[in-house]
Amino acid sequence: MVCFNFLMIRNLLFLSLLLISVCLINVGNSNPTYLYHVCTNTTINNSSTNSVYRSNLNSLLSSLSSNVTGEFRNASVGGVYGLFLCRGDVNATACRECVAFAANDVVKRCPTEGIAVIWYDECQLRYSNRSFFGTVATRPGVYLLNSANVTDKERFKELLNVTMKEAATEAARGEPGEKKFGTRDADFNGFQRLYNLAQCTPDLSSQDCDGCLTEAIENLPVCCDAKLGGRVLFPSCNIRYEFYPFYTQNTSSSSPPPTASPPALPPPPGSVTRKEGKSKTSSLTIVAIVVPIAVGVMLFIIVFCFLRKRAKKKNNAVDQKNGNDISTIESLKFDLATIEAATNNFSADNKLGEGGFGEVYKGMLHNEKEIAVKRLSKYSGQGAEEFKNEVVLLAKLQHRNLVRLLGFCLEGEEKLLVYEFVPNKSLDYFLYDPDKQEKLDWSIRHKIIGGIARGILYLHEDSPLRIIHRDLKASNILLDADMNSKISDFGMARMFAVDQTRGNTNRVVGTYGYMSPEYAMHGQFSIKSDVYSFGVLILETISGKKNSSFYESGYAEDLLSYAWKLWKEGTPLKLLDPKLMNSYSESEVVRCIHVGLLCVQEDPEDRPTMKTIVLMFNSYSVTLPVPEKPAFYNRTESDMPTMEMKFDQSTSAAGYPLLSVNEVSITELYPR
Ligand SMILES: *[C@@H]1O[C@H](CO)[C@@H](O)[C@H](O)[C@H]1NC(C)=O
Ligand SMILES: *[C@@H]1O[C@H](CO)[C@@H](O)[C@H](O)[C@H]1NC(C)=O
Ligand SMILES: *[C@@H]1O[C@H](CO)[C@@H](O)[C@H](O)[C@H]1NC(C)=O
Ligand SMILES: *[C@@H]1O[C@H](CO)[C@@H](O)[C@H](O)[C@H]1NC(C)=O
Ligand SMILES: *[C@@H]1O[C@H](CO)[C@@H](O)[C@H](O)[C@H]1NC(C)=O
Ligand SMILES: *[C@@H]1O[C@H](CO)[C@@H](O)[C@H](O)[C@H]1NC(C)=O
Ligand SMILES: *[C@@H]1O[C@H](CO)[C@@H](O)[C@H](O)[C@H]1NC(C)=O
Ligand SMILES: *[C@@H]1O[C@H](CO)[C@@H](O)[C@H](O)[C@H]1NC(C)=O
Ligand SMILES: *[C@@H]1O[C@H](CO)[C@@H](O)[C@H](O)[C@H]1NC(C)=O
Ligand SMILES: *[C@@H]1O[C@H](CO)[C@@H](O)[C@H](O)[C@H]1NC(C)=O
Repeated sequence: MVCFNFLMIRNLLFLSLLLISVCLINVGNSNPTYLYHVCTNTTINNSSTNSVYRSNLNSLLSSLSSNVTGEFRNASVGGVYGLFLCRGDVNATACRECVAFAANDVVKRCPTEGIAVIWYDECQLRYSNRSFFGTVATRPGVYLLNSANVTDKERFKELLNVTMKEAATEAARGEPGEKKFGTRDADFNGFQRLYNLAQCTPDLSSQDCDGCLTEAIENLPVCCDAKLGGRVLFPSCNIRYEFYPFYTQNTSSSSPPPTASPPALPPPPGSVTRKEGKSKTSSLTIVAIVVPIAVGVMLFIIVFCFLRKRAKKKNNAVDQKNGNDISTIESLKFDLATIEAATNNFSADNKLGEGGFGEVYKGMLHNEKEIAVKRLSKYSGQGAEEFKNEVVLLAKLQHRNLVRLLGFCLEGEEKLLVYEFVPNKSLDYFLYDPDKQEKLDWSIRHKIIGGIARGILYLHEDSPLRIIHRDLKASNILLDADMNSKISDFGMARMFAVDQTRGNTNRVVGTYGYMSPEYAMHGQFSIKSDVYSFGVLILETISGKKNSSFYESGYAEDLLSYAWKLWKEGTPLKLLDPKLMNSYSESEVVRCIHVGLLCVQEDPEDRPTMKTIVLMFNSYSVTLPVPEKPAFYNRTESDMPTMEMKFDQSTSAAGYPLLSVNEVSITELYPR
């Protein structure tokens, strides 16, 4: 009883403090809340053309800000293209104020640069020297998060996954030109509600909007894993979730109001939406002390209440799973006759190639669906049941950057795996052929590298199985019709009981150059050996050269040492495939080389995880550590002059502002 009263008093105190702080925060709230901006230098390096550009830019900005009639408008003035987008629920007055403020603010923050994007809570503004209307841009991207953790991570992730997708679907539903905005709120634990928002610029098609938001959602585990609030901001779309209503809810919408919830849930401590800092610091500090206490009490109750419920739920889940698996095996099964018909009896004409674990054939099913069939070599030591179980597990791995396993066939001697057919062959087919290299311009190569990174991240951390690929190489990176990368042959190590090296001697030769030293010499593999192979892939993709061919030809050094040497000399761009000419972004290339070198460091501990790597690619505000010498580096050259790496000092050297400095820390909003 005594304890209970004490709690009540505490909570009353807590509520009144909150009211005070809420009042304080609402004072002087006329300026929009700045979040982040990115300026890019154009090489408008001609003082006369530059001044024309800037005056056109100025008229564009005043045209945009003087004519805010809806939540979006695009416009262009003499080769300068721009748009603004207000958050879908912001009223016309607030939208107008935000755009006007942004138009002023952005030229102060980017005084010389010709390309910029700036984000506020209420609106965003973007301009460039090239027309970007109707096209998706997911770079540059920014993460913002509330660094406090949620209490029930598993339940939270499930809920976020579902509700954010619903918000995204709603946003993507709008026709081109129409508003693309969706929100969803849902009960989290009876005390807290989760609020989600997704929005695209209306110039995108539904599909593009969906693609953009899907990518943003895929970034959530990277940026804001089980954090109390998070956002992913791209130029073309953005998502955000919080445990308090941060958008104006449509009262006429169908979602029921929160049941018996405490009045106006407060923004949590360190919330990303906190406004300017100075005058409120003291009240925020008080809140920061009080809130954890209250949260602790809540947590206690929640844990207590939900413990039994969860236990029950788990049992149900297990039952369901078993039921599913039985039906799944059947749905994944293909008849041998079907496959033989589809592949023309495994005819030589249909043969696509020969991978490490067997030959691959193209096939066409009756419904005209194209497939790729891998005819496994007979070495597999697995029994039929184990094989089937593996297939069921692997079929569950679904990601845009993985080749999809459709099913299997197990009859007599034959063990077949049926995959989706990926039309554009594999990365090595383009990369090492002088006639085809040109097809891979920089934006495609950059996209390929990013896709591989996301695919491996999924295998390592986000998939239900947590798979180490062990055989990443250019020929295992397939390319779809849009030149998106799709990793193949994942999970094969599981299917072929452990000792892969005996499976096929070609494989070992073919993989030479990709294997990390600890794997090649001691057979030790870990996620960090995949990271090593990925680093080799990056450097190969950038240079258009095979790492292994360096060994074979008369070069004194391998690709890694060569890349390292150029890096040390401060001329990393010399590594670039000459076929790329001038069609590349210098800062992107340098960043990729930097990440590549971090991946191939000798000590596995020094190599970043895939999660960090994806972060490094996605956020220019992440500063990369200085790479150590790559493995296999020829040590006699270690007395080369060491130069300061300009990109290590601060990413602002690449034209991007620097916010957070820690290797793995992510941009958090600082009051400016
Ligand atoms: C825009 O500026 C970039 C960087 O200077 C330049 O490479 C590009 O050609 C320009 N685009 C147009 C359409 O002028
Ligand atoms: C202008 O171009 C020259 C050479 O092309 C270069 O050295 C100089 O740094 C450039 N100036 C600016 C402001 O970009
Ligand atoms: C620089 O400006 C001058 C005068 O406007 C023009 O003749 C010249 O072509 C411009 N150079 C470039 C590289 O744009
Ligand atoms: C304002 O924007 C509308 C479309 O959004 C356009 O039709 C109109 O011409 C614009 N007016 C001015 C003065 O730019
Ligand atoms: C706005 O973008 C659309 C494409 O989405 C384009 O057709 C239209 O011309 C643009 N409007 C202006 C004023 O540039
Ligand atoms: C528009 O929104 C702002 C901020 O949310 C609010 O202060 C203002 O009263 C609103 N104006 C109208 C006309 O609803
Ligand atoms: C959140 O949880 C992670 C581990 O899951 C921990 O490392 C981190 O310190 C926690 N953050 C806060 C603010 O409690
Ligand atoms: C998110 O939902 C999709 C289905 O919509 C599911 O395949 C995926 O595993 C879920 N991810 C998480 C992390 O729960
Ligand atoms: C709010 O709901 C009404 C009716 O359901 C709808 O017409 C309106 O577009 C909605 N507004 C927003 C901002 O979703
Ligand atoms: C961008 O260009 C301006 C001059 O045009 C120059 O002063 C500035 O240093 C450049 N920034 C970077 C990062 O190259």
